[in-house]
Amino acid sequence: MRGSSGVAATFWSFLSISSSVLALEQQPFQFEAMSVPTYTLPPLPYAYDALEPHISAQIMELHHGKHHQTYITNLNAALKSQAEAVHAADITTQVALQQGIKFNAGGHINHSLFWQNLAPASSVDAKSSAAPKLLKQIQATWGDEAKFKEAFNAALLGIQGSGWGWLIKVETGKEQRLAIVTTKDQDPVVGKGEVPIFGVDMWEHAYYLQYLNGKAAYVQNIWNVINWKTAEERFLGTRADAFKVLKASI
Ligand SMILES: [Fe+2]
Repeated sequence: MRGSSGVAATFWSFLSISSSVLALEQQPFQFEAMSVPTYTLPPLPYAYDALEPHISAQIMELHHGKHHQTYITNLNAALKSQAEAVHAADITTQVALQQGIKFNAGGHINHSLFWQNLAPASSVDAKSSAAPKLLKQIQATWGDEAKFKEAFNAALLGIQGSGWGWLIKVETGKEQRLAIVTTKDQDPVVGKGEVPIFGVDMWEHAYYLQYLNGKAAYVQNIWNVINWKTAEERFLGTRADAFKVLKASI
């Protein structure tokens, strides 16, 4: 009797352990709760009306509070779904999620960089003299600041549909050079050795409420609010330095 109850106890104990193991295996929520970062909206480093008259407070409030927030909300949802799909070994769902992750993560990356590379026109940071070393390389690359701005503006106005224009530093070994590049939709600058120095948002949501179809006027006026101090720091720093604002938003 004692023997059989011992066997029964062992059996039930085995079942109990097995069901615990099964329960652990069937709890993707615990898995993703431990491993998936949740991103939050980084605060603007100035007030919504601080970039007026060049960018209106209404645009800034919608752009930061609604558009940027939406990219983050969608990114967090996609990352959670991806973690569940990884845990469930569901490769089909993982592949299906990639485009959404790229688009919304790109939106979060680009806007996080953009807010930091703007500054009120009246501040010393908005003067190109705040970036002496960067200016030297701009002059060596394009001849002078005016010619650089002309080339940058042409790149911005050449974007078809939605996208971004960027001044980037490209590092190859010990060599480094500056380049103007454009990216489509929310594609971020994440190529090997590429450091974004400053970007300009060319989506209509960035200017239309104020400039309507006057895209060229927006492009002209954005120079009044470029943060050259941030640009100099990114030029002198590394990729990790440029993207530190993203880590801070987790
Ligand atoms: Fe935007």
